[in-house]
Amino acid sequence: MESMPVVPRFMDVHTHPQMLAYNSDREAVLGRAKIAGVKMIAVGTQFSTSHAAIELAGKYPKDVWATVGFHPAHFSVNWYHDKNEQSSPEREIFDIVALEDLAKNPKVVAIGECGLDYFRDKDEGTKDRQKEGFVAQISLAHRLKKPLMIHCRAAFPDLIQILKSKPEILNSPPGIIHFFSGTIDEAKKLLDMGFYFTFGGVITFARDYDYVIKMIPIDRILSETDAPYVSPVPYRGKRNEPAYVVEVVRKLADLKGVSIEETSETIFRNAQNVFGLIKS
Ligand code: NI
Repeated sequence: MESMPVVPRFMDVHTHPQMLAYNSDREAVLGRAKIAGVKMIAVGTQFSTSHAAIELAGKYPKDVWATVGFHPAHFSVNWYHDKNEQSSPEREIFDIVALEDLAKNPKVVAIGECGLDYFRDKDEGTKDRQKEGFVAQISLAHRLKKPLMIHCRAAFPDLIQILKSKPEILNSPPGIIHFFSGTIDEAKKLLDMGFYFTFGGVITFARDYDYVIKMIPIDRILSETDAPYVSPVPYRGKRNEPAYVVEVVRKLADLKGVSIEETSETIFRNAQNVFGLIKS
């Protein structure tokens, strides 16, 4: 067995440090992550936040990588304005050509977040636009040979059906299901297809995910914060940040019955495997 590094290495594979929530203290936030041994993937949710993620990755080349994608929530006509993402209330229009141009940047290690979200908007037209946008991003990931960073909420049957209908354009590994919230059966189907799964702050205070986490092999599990959203215990109610991923890994280690050192190292290697470009 290889010897483990003295200081544990942590990976926050789904976080948004490029968002407006950190405009006043971004350097301090990244400094705290560095001290905690946390590297991260800054995830884009539309063109503007994908562009900002790449800029941040350029500024912190050893600690930050980027993704480019268009979040399913942005296909909704009654889209709510999330002030973390942009200062203006206008919706961005999905433009796969512009996204592809951005995604060719070598800092980009995945396509997403993309996927389906029927939780807030159950309109059939929105669902159709989400599906079309998702398929376009699956193709983009295939063209650029990058894994998918998938967001899926209340839509797993449709998501699995789309993925199963496109075996010729799924990469190996196909990608990551960000904060998996489906059933055991859905997890098994996605495992069979080669997907990895991330879990975040919610697992530190809700017990609904314990069973699925115990079922998924540790070599398919990754850790995330989804910062600035949903902080883990003991930071609940505060703005989340990448350094807090340590609390998520602590809980994963607890559920798996192994040490936090071993868990963090396994997750770090899983991230190297999925994202390819990341080498320690
Ligand atoms: Ni996110």
